[in-house]
Amino acid sequence: MIQHAHQVAVGKSESMLAASGGNVASTGEHIAPAPRISVQAFCEAVETAAAVQSASEDRRLAKAHVKIQMGGANAAVEAYRNSPTPNVILLEADARANEILLKLDQLAEVCDAGTRVIVVGRVNDVLFYRELTGRGVSEYLISPVGTIDIVRSICGLYSAPDAKPVGRIIAVVGTKGGVGASTVAHNVGWAIARDLSLDSVVVDLDLAFGTAGLDYNQDPPQGLADAVFAPDRIDTAFIDRLLSKCTDHLSLLAAPATLDRVYDFGAEAFDSTLDSLRSSTPCVVLDVPHQWSAWTKRLLVSADDILMVAGPDLANLRNAKNMVDLLRSSRPNDHRPYYCLNQVGVPKRPEITPADFAKALEDQPLAVIPFEPQIFGTAANNGQMIAEVSSGHKTAEMFRQLAKMLTGRAEAKRTRGHLLTPLLAKLMKRSA
Ligand SMILES: Nc1ncnc2c1ncn2[C@@H]1O[C@H](COP(=O)(O)OP(=O)(O)O)[C@@H](O)[C@H]1O
Ligand SMILES: [Mg+2]
Repeated sequence: MIQHAHQVAVGKSESMLAASGGNVASTGEHIAPAPRISVQAFCEAVETAAAVQSASEDRRLAKAHVKIQMGGANAAVEAYRNSPTPNVILLEADARANEILLKLDQLAEVCDAGTRVIVVGRVNDVLFYRELTGRGVSEYLISPVGTIDIVRSICGLYSAPDAKPVGRIIAVVGTKGGVGASTVAHNVGWAIARDLSLDSVVVDLDLAFGTAGLDYNQDPPQGLADAVFAPDRIDTAFIDRLLSKCTDHLSLLAAPATLDRVYDFGAEAFDSTLDSLRSSTPCVVLDVPHQWSAWTKRLLVSADDILMVAGPDLANLRNAKNMVDLLRSSRPNDHRPYYCLNQVGVPKRPEITPADFAKALEDQPLAVIPFEPQIFGTAANNGQMIAEVSSGHKTAEMFRQLAKMLTGRAEAKRTRGHLLTPLLAKLMKRSA
């Protein structure tokens, strides 16, 4: 626990280094969503209340019930004298160390056993951390706190390192049909499994026409449709049986690619399948078909990261811009959607340049993948990945790079932190 308090301090300085002033998760950071919990915050500063409010609107706290009131620790002690405590109490305490500890002791008398306490305060002192953790405080955040600090600490309570693995969901979507989004999704998923040895599942969400089965040379008797049409049966064991194993670390949740049924779904149709996959698989790659419906929108908004695949023409650019705008405003505490250009350099075809895309979208593409009909056609018709046709091909290397970037592996590890960090760590280890 003492270690935990230390991690909070380190996490904070990292997020302060992030471009957006600490309100967006740093690139590669993965915060797993919190389960259905109740959270009550007792704030002192309006800025803190505002941060908790916007945290409560974050996609990762979508299932949590968050209530906010002012009045700090006094209000908390008062509130729970005669009523049960929620799963999490977030307490802002502007007071000096001794007063805070006194209040916590009072709170402890009325606090139910399972309730976790997060304290936000100004005191930055090792002895104080120790006193807090000794009293069972789960997290200590030094104010001022940003939205993402709150999200991170609440979600962190439910995804301790020793808890079950929690998967990162990467959604890949085309900004137009036929731009190669599925091809990119399948090759990147394959590279994540092969080159990073991360257990991964590719989910083919194009139920009627999906090509993941063809691309991985699999013909599974069951797959995603069995889950989505039997939502009551879904649990990890059930989903496991629907997966078909493609390589050591890669499995596929295939689309039926048959037309006997139609595939009109409600917004939440895939929620329990994805929750189940997330709880058992470190990396889930969604191959999202190019359409705009309640469920495709929800999949994109709730993914950890998004990769848009665009062809180099005006319609793709317009659509990409619209998708970026919509997704940025629905995911204000996340990294913006990434994009790559694909099928670039078709002979004689007038194209919009990567530089113009970068200017219009105010962001560089993660990759510019050339139009290579020979190798892509061979791979598609043989049920192979590009790296299997030719491991040294430059596009195979691009997929490897995309795999690294999308899983946060390509980032140079941040070693900058607080100067005192090593000393603090030592102190805390000794006292643990
Ligand atoms: N860089 C590329 N060069 C040549 N052909 C490509 C490239 N990327 C994809 N393709 C081909 O384009 C076609 C459409 O790809 P697909 O992944 O199904 O697109 P989407 O999922 O966006 O509809 C496929 O035949 C695929 O092999
Ligand atoms: Mg597709």
